[in-house]
Amino acid sequence: MKILVTGGAGFIGANFLNHLVPKHPEHTFVNLDKLTYAANLASLEPVAKADNYRLAVIDLVDFDGVDRAFAEHEPELVIHFAAESHVDRSISGPRAFIKSNIEGTFNLLEACRKHWEPGQGLFHHVSTDEVYGSLGDEGMFVETTRYDPSSPYSASKAASDHLVRAYARTFGLRTRITNCSNNYGPLQFPEKLIPLMVLNALEGKPLPVYGEGLNVRDWLYVIDHCEAIWKVVHEGEDGQTYNIGGNNEVRNIDVVKEICAVVAEQTGKSRGELEGLITYVKDRPGHDLRYAIDATKLRTELHWEPTETFSTGLRKTIRWYLDHPTWVQQVRTGEYRKWIEKNYDNRG
Ligand code: NAD
Ligand code: DAU
Repeated sequence: MKILVTGGAGFIGANFLNHLVPKHPEHTFVNLDKLTYAANLASLEPVAKADNYRLAVIDLVDFDGVDRAFAEHEPELVIHFAAESHVDRSISGPRAFIKSNIEGTFNLLEACRKHWEPGQGLFHHVSTDEVYGSLGDEGMFVETTRYDPSSPYSASKAASDHLVRAYARTFGLRTRITNCSNNYGPLQFPEKLIPLMVLNALEGKPLPVYGEGLNVRDWLYVIDHCEAIWKVVHEGEDGQTYNIGGNNEVRNIDVVKEICAVVAEQTGKSRGELEGLITYVKDRPGHDLRYAIDATKLRTELHWEPTETFSTGLRKTIRWYLDHPTWVQQVRTGEYRKWIEKNYDNRG
């Protein structure tokens, strides 16, 4: 099968491709990516030369580019990861989120409508639990929870989910949506909580915790997310939504303390000194208090189970950052950005 994976040079997309391209030589995977600041081609080194992998550097906001990619690669399945993904950036500069996440998804849906007959092809939309807004101390998000997004990022993802459902109802496009909780693991850009804290701890820099650190996130190891998507694509039902989460609710301050403990364990640094780097800073505006995913539908209907607990996944993740100093250094110094500018910025 010909599979178009958008955003394959980002954190989850690159983990997805590195995990699945070698396992499935019978499929061809085309990675359509704009290569924003969050993309990193070094992350795709394991598959870059594989016979069943191709890269198409295209901005989803450019419909003609997307149209050409469909004409050239004739995908039968689209797995749509590409998005601006960082909540804080959506607060300081929302426009890119509206463009890429809403208009970009719209262009992709339009290309599917143009190139596929009704009933042909499948569009899998990778979304987030943030569309549901914030929970109080009790309850969990289920697939029917009312949308109530708080940030420009989550509002843009909610809009893209609605567009996907509208194309299914109005034009008969075959679609599926997954809404997943917070991911962590190798290759994550160090603006997100876990890699930021790991790298700052290793470098002896302050560990900035928003507010009082009492907000709760439900953490899932990235490969468990990728496996869930693959399962939904192959065994799920058209028009359905599946929540993905691993029942790993942790308060931010406890995440940061656990990172200090594991970094200390793996490097011999003093845990007490690392915890001394914790600095409480101004809270994020509109900061959602708590996310918790009920993934019963995915577990019971498709028999998906995560393989990592937060404790095992976090140890693997920190080990990965320690074992990949060149990747870390390039990302921290912007070396890879310079490489992209040199190699890609003059392409159409
Ligand atoms: P990321 O920011 O690491 O990567 C996003 C990728 O999309 C980058 O390679 C970027 O270049 C590409 N991209 C952005 N705008 C584009 C455009 N206009 N055209 C083409 N490519 C573009 O993001 P991530 O953390 O890997 O998230 C991937 C997807 O998963 C997103 O849709 C996000 O909403 C969703 N998601 C993320 C998490 C999480 O915890 N990270 C959880 C649930 C859902
Ligand atoms: O829930 C899924 C979402 O998880 C995804 O849709 C988003 O793409 C992804 O970025 C993530 O959003 P969050 O805002 O939850 O992730 P972030 O890593 O930015 O923050 C996690 C928590 O940690 C959040 O409560 C804010 C807090 N935080 C974050 C940073 C960057 C801090 O306390 N300090 C920080 O420096």
